[in-house]
Amino acid sequence: AEIVLAKDRNEAGAIVADHIAGLVSANPETVLGVATGSTPLPVYEALAAQAAAGVDFSHVSAYALDEYVGLPVEHPESYRSVITHEFQDRVGADPSRVHVPDGALAGIETAGERYEALLAASGGVDLQILGIGTTGHIGFNEPGSSFGSLTRVKTLTEQTRIDNARFFDSLDQVPIHCVTQGLGTILRARHLVLLAFGEGKAEALAASVEGPVSSSMPGSAIQLHPHVTVVVDEAAASRLR
Ligand code: F6R
Repeated sequence: AEIVLAKDRNEAGAIVADHIAGLVSANPETVLGVATGSTPLPVYEALAAQAAAGVDFSHVSAYALDEYVGLPVEHPESYRSVITHEFQDRVGADPSRVHVPDGALAGIETAGERYEALLAASGGVDLQILGIGTTGHIGFNEPGSSFGSLTRVKTLTEQTRIDNARFFDSLDQVPIHCVTQGLGTILRARHLVLLAFGEGKAEALAASVEGPVSSSMPGSAIQLHPHVTVVVDEAAASRLR
C-alpha cells in the first residue's frame, strides 16, 4: 500500500477530498464508497468545501459500507441519517443516488442480496473510503470474517459496541447486529483509501498493513488489493516499521 503521512486529520481530509474532486471533475458519475464513524468526517468537511467551490456532486453515486439492524432510519445514529447529514446534504448529492444497506427487521434476510444487486448495477465503486476499528474490522467485518464474504447480517463484537457507545446514550442502546458489505465486496472497489487517526488505531493499522494476511485481522484484506492508499496521522502510524 501507498502510505501518506498527514500532519493531522484536516490535512488528511483535504488530501483525500482533493483526489475525489479530481475524479468527480473527470467523471461526474463517479461511484464513491462512503463510510460512517468519526474517521471520514474531515473528508466530508473538505468535500463540502469542494462542492461550495463549484465541484458538482449531483451525478455522483454513493454506497455506504454498513447499517445497524433494527434502528429506525430516522434515528440520528442510523447510518442512513449519518450519511444523509454528513455527506449527502453537504456535498449536494442526489438522494436517489445515495445507498445504504437496509437494516429494517422486516425483510432483513434479503438485505444482503438486495444490496449486492444494487452494487452490481452501479458498475462498481471507483473509490472506497474506509476507517478501521480497534478490533481491526473494516466495514463491520469483525475478526473471523471470510475474505470472500458478501453483504450480510453480522453480530457486532462487544468491543465495537463499547467503541460506538459514545454515539448513543448508553451501551445497551447500541444495536447488536448490523448489515455490512463483506470483505469480498469491499475488495471489488477499484481503489481503497483507508484512513486512521490516533494512537488507538496504531496497532490494528500496523497489523493490517504489515502483519500476516489473516481473517483474524480483517483489515489485512487490503494486502490482497492492487490499489490501496493509507492516509494516517503520526499517532496512527506509530506502530508501522
Ligand atoms: C463505518 C465502518 C467502521 C468504522 C470503524 C472506525 O462505516 O464501517 O469500520 O470505519 O469502526 O470507526 P471510527 O471512525 O468512528 O473510529
